[in-house]
Amino acid sequence: MGARVIMVASGKGGTGKSTVAVLTAGRLAARGRRVLLVELDSGLRSVDYIAGVYGKTVYDVEDVFSGRCAAGKAIVESPLYPDLYVISAPYSGGRVRAAALQVFAERAKPVFDDIVLDTAAGMGAPFEAAAAVADRALLVITPDPVALRDGHIVCDALAAGGLQDIRLVINRVPPRLDGCGIRDLDECIDTVGAQLIGVVPESAEVRAAGATGTALAQKSTAYRVFDAIAARLCGEQVPLIVR
Ligand SMILES: Nc1ncnc2c1ncn2[C@@H]1O[C@H](COP(=O)(O)OP(=O)(O)OP(=O)(O)O)[C@@H](O)[C@H]1O
Ligand SMILES: [Mg+2]
Repeated sequence: MGARVIMVASGKGGTGKSTVAVLTAGRLAARGRRVLLVELDSGLRSVDYIAGVYGKTVYDVEDVFSGRCAAGKAIVESPLYPDLYVISAPYSGGRVRAAALQVFAERAKPVFDDIVLDTAAGMGAPFEAAAAVADRALLVITPDPVALRDGHIVCDALAAGGLQDIRLVINRVPPRLDGCGIRDLDECIDTVGAQLIGVVPESAEVRAAGATGTALAQKSTAYRVFDAIAARLCGEQVPLIVR
């Protein structure tokens, strides 16, 4: 048994991977699961801010992978989301090596219920390393033609690599899709070719959570949206659209 490994990926940059990774992992942890979130986006870290561990980390994932410190020293519990444990990416340098991530994941699996891997946009080293250990992918797109096209390319690459369990998160969905360049959310699902697991509205609260390192207000729409994604990841059947 041991943890299942969930990678968070996108083709286009800035679709909200890190935001979705932290807020989903936070709700998984709230369900009583022990969750480890590993940020693999070396040099462009943001998870520390969103998870509220900014300034609390001494070591990073590169220190762990290169054997400079034990994993326990780099793992920090989020003050915003109890039972969510975070390892940050380095501020600069470092290149995620698949073999090192593989060794690390095998060691962490008995200790956690979920290991969430926040990757970088596209299909570079973090993506490849994560795909080699992941049981499931959350593919994050925004509702625009470029994100759809790039999402489709990434979805195909994951499937070609043997990953079967690929779920689509459509993020930053405005109240009306006029001017987005797409017809409707069905077009997103059909173009990318992955099963939908969540629709996250464009939300000032989500943006503020990332910008200020604060938790989502309980029972807000955004809170319920990520709670529903976590529920679906745990196999519960809950409505796809949260209002
Ligand atoms: N649902 C949302 N509503 C409003 N703003 C959002 C939403 N999701 C993400 N954002 C904002 O979009 C920006 C990009 O988000 P984020 O850093 O999570 O994207 P990313 O895919 O991880 O980016 P990168 O490709 O650089 O790693 C951030 O400013 C974040 O606060
Ligand atoms: Mg990111």
